[in-house]
Amino acid sequence: MAEVVLTRTADEASALAAAHVAREIAARPRLVLGVATGSTPEGFYRHLARCLAAEGTDTSGVRAFALDEYVGLPADHPESYAAVIDRTVTMPLGLDPAHVHVPDGRAADPFAAAVAYDRAIDAAGGVDIQILGIGRNGHIGFNEPGSSLGSRTRVKTLAASTRDANARFFTDPRDVPVHCITQGIGTIREARHLILLAFGADKSTALAGAVEGPVSASLPGSAIQLHPHVTVLADEDAAQKLTQAEAYREAWALKPAAQSF
Ligand code: F6R
Repeated sequence: MAEVVLTRTADEASALAAAHVAREIAARPRLVLGVATGSTPEGFYRHLARCLAAEGTDTSGVRAFALDEYVGLPADHPESYAAVIDRTVTMPLGLDPAHVHVPDGRAADPFAAAVAYDRAIDAAGGVDIQILGIGRNGHIGFNEPGSSLGSRTRVKTLAASTRDANARFFTDPRDVPVHCITQGIGTIREARHLILLAFGADKSTALAGAVEGPVSASLPGSAIQLHPHVTVLADEDAAQKLTQAEAYREAWALKPAAQSF
């Protein structure tokens, strides 16, 4: 069972997660952080940047690996995940760009680039903390429903519902790429600690399925139930369909060291 931390607002959850990750980075200067894009973790990155700056933490040794990237966007496209990670993670956290990795969606051979990405994660010693959002359809990374729970980083086709959801980032919805390179569910499960953030009512069904539903490739987020160390942070709106919410609140309130996941 994942540890589920329910907060009133997304900002509270983001601040809690950021304080934890900042402490971990201070303790392990070469920590490997797995980073998600999308709207969900934006507040978390802002809080994390503030915590690190407030403590004067040296982040030059931190390594980061993004979950996924679109295939085929031009190098300078502001919505490529390389650009998004640069804006929201690398620069605010003061990371060395040479230590920040995003799957190469412009590679002549994206299939080989995907395999190389898994090797690069292994070569870095694996991901210590993986930040995850969840799609309305239950995807993690861009592992759409039906993805193997043991899958590795690979080229995938985005579901129509994901392309619709992400159209908000593009001027013309027809510009949303159809393909991506995503870490596989098996790859994600190898991270030592998963922190899944879920905010807003439109995530409530996916979150309830991921945390309390049967483990199933039909809801890729449910793979978190197979992981030994998972922390889920959700706001009230996202948590509304969890049947065990009171139990999660009580467990969190009575946790011996409530500051630590
Ligand atoms: C992003 C990613 C996706 C998103 C998910 C939720 O790197 O891997 O799984 O986390 O699509 O997106 P938002 O946060 O925009 O609702």
